Amino acid sequence: MQVIEKVTQMQSLASRWWREGLSIGFVPTMGALHEGHLSLVREARKHHDRVVVSIFVNPLQFGPKEDYSRYPRTFEQDKVLLEREGVDVLFYPSVEELYPEGFETYVIVEKLPEHLCGLSRPGHFRGVTTVVAKLFHIVMPHEAYFGKKDYQQYRIIERMVKDLNMPVRITPMPIVREADGLAMSSRNRYLTPAEREKALVLFRTLQLAEELIQKGEREALVLTEKLKTFITTEVPEARIDYVSFVDALTLEDVSHLQGHVLLALAVFIGSTRLIDNREFVIED
Ligand code: PAF
Repeated sequence: MQVIEKVTQMQSLASRWWREGLSIGFVPTMGALHEGHLSLVREARKHHDRVVVSIFVNPLQFGPKEDYSRYPRTFEQDKVLLEREGVDVLFYPSVEELYPEGFETYVIVEKLPEHLCGLSRPGHFRGVTTVVAKLFHIVMPHEAYFGKKDYQQYRIIERMVKDLNMPVRITPMPIVREADGLAMSSRNRYLTPAEREKALVLFRTLQLAEELIQKGEREALVLTEKLKTFITTEVPEARIDYVSFVDALTLEDVSHLQGHVLLALAVFIGSTRLIDNREFVIED
């Protein structure tokens, strides 16, 4: 596996692959890799001649009070994992390489970031779309893979690619969970053993929602009240950012569950903000 740190070197290699007719699968990450990331890498490996993974902790997508400086950086371990998966190139640029002096161009998707995480993390998705657009121009992938745990991110990137006619296919992949149900996340590393137990409340809330929906409840207000009460009863110190039923395409709130709906959760366990979600397709 080749580690490339320079934009021009990555671009000329990708251009050569295009000239040779080789297809490129791409997995953008911020490192601190876990099985969720590796499931994306394996999918890319199955379908493409060349696989590129990027590791870049993107300062643009962190708010001033967020965890940019303490975000886990585990480059040596990540490298070993990616080598084992048969990745061809690990693109590992520095902040100065991606955002040199004078940088002032951003990519903004207008409406989709106005919901869910966008409300409590202003500027976050502008940072995500800007870096992902740059990475697409540098790596020139035919297909890029995103985990559905960050469902809103996936929908926003899908929108950006469509609106800006970027020649890349966006493939969403299922959430990968620990054996007990906790969605895998690089931020799970922040949890103390006691918080790790409490973090399970997110998964159990999704399970409760499924039960209530199966029993016939369709009113979002009734469901969200029950789910919020469940969270605060199970883990009184949990701080709920949101528990929302939204249209899975527009991410707008729904009042009555019908069609393709997403239940999305964001909950602080201690100082760690965790997210999780489940899609429902309701036809009756
Ligand atoms: O999902 C992530 O890890 C990041 O938001 C991404 C897509 C790599 C952009 O920095």
